Amino acid sequence: MSTYAKGLEGVVAAETQMSWIDGVNGVLEYVGINIDALAQNSTFEETVYLLWNKKLPTRAELDAFTKELRQHYSISAGIVESIRKIPKTAEPMHVLRTLISELAFYDADPNANDVASARKKAINILGQAPTLVAAYDRIRRGLDPIAPNTEFGFSQNFLYMLNGEKPTDTMARAFDICMITHADHGLNNSTFAARVVISTLSDVYSALTAAVGSLRGPLHGGANEGVMKMLNEIPSIDDVEKYVMDKLATKSKIMGFGHRVYKAKDPRANELQKLAQQLAKDTGNEALFEKSKKIEEIMAREVGAKGIYPNVDFYSATTYHCIGLKLDLFTPMFAMSRLGGWSGHIIEQLSDNRLFRPKAEFVGEHNVPYVAINDRK
Ligand code: ACO
Repeated sequence: MSTYAKGLEGVVAAETQMSWIDGVNGVLEYVGINIDALAQNSTFEETVYLLWNKKLPTRAELDAFTKELRQHYSISAGIVESIRKIPKTAEPMHVLRTLISELAFYDADPNANDVASARKKAINILGQAPTLVAAYDRIRRGLDPIAPNTEFGFSQNFLYMLNGEKPTDTMARAFDICMITHADHGLNNSTFAARVVISTLSDVYSALTAAVGSLRGPLHGGANEGVMKMLNEIPSIDDVEKYVMDKLATKSKIMGFGHRVYKAKDPRANELQKLAQQLAKDTGNEALFEKSKKIEEIMAREVGAKGIYPNVDFYSATTYHCIGLKLDLFTPMFAMSRLGGWSGHIIEQLSDNRLFRPKAEFVGEHNVPYVAINDRK
């Protein structure tokens, strides 16, 4: 018996020990630990260790993991040369997708996909990803890339390479919370893409390249850029009501709202809202935050009954803006973090693999005669 579920809604297609979501009550756990506890107490490095090892590290384990990650911060001269040849108009998500694929050229054994090799490739790619994004952004601005600083943590190092100065502790911590909250989220579209590709026993580079491509879409990770564009389109808080009502009247989607799994407010949005509020105050972007809050109020009134609430992308937009990131870097930030989750899923898939091969319901015609080309109308 086959049943068809459009968009695979409700279909359980894999097992994971990484994240658990209660979509009705708006709860998210990584390896059983509530996301709020991780956002408040953990670091991105520790969170990735947790996802990959299914346990919090001891001090010594975290030190060893952090050291290993930092050893992979640098990118090869060949990759820098390649980045210099990319048109300056290229979108950073296209650039990141291409460069992750290109990293395979510099791996002596790119196709090795036993679990130990996959883990090594994953940490190598995760270490380099911020350097790739920062290098492209600087080169497109006519600046030289800045070498990574292995004294710095993942988030601090990224902001340093991007801006050429050490970020304040507040900014680095805010960015790290973004990285923690975006790291994993069940069998979302991009994670599924990664697992589908690796299930053919292809390679880690191909699986992660596919995942970046999936994440870029505006219905998925690309929504954070959509949110910012929307906030920029609304001149002031007085225009919010009309803007939202016009969109709903024409059945247009409000970016950053709705979720296939959550029918309550996404718990990541709670954490990011707190962060956005504080950063907006610190950076004089209160108007942006106030517009966001007003949109949330109107959406709750109009479509809350349908279970449409803010998702992770809604307040991450204001947060990234206040951190000083350019709009087209928002989705690459999501990708940098989610590389941790995607890689963990690739490792889980390889540990107990079975090829993904669903079926399509054929809805076309049968017994259609073959008409010779000269007789076709
Ligand atoms: N604004 C207005 N209405 C919405 C929204 C929204 N953001 N999201 C869903 N709806 C409405 C739909 O119009 C539809 O209404 P109807 O039943 O009257 O026709 C109903 O809710 C169901 O919507 P679907 O699109 O069928 O729900 P689905 O589960 O397929 O989609 C999705 C989920 C893609 C996230 C959707 O809510 C959406 O497009 N949101 C905006 C884009 C976005 O923020 N994406 C990021 C998601 S989080 C992430 O991927 C990281």
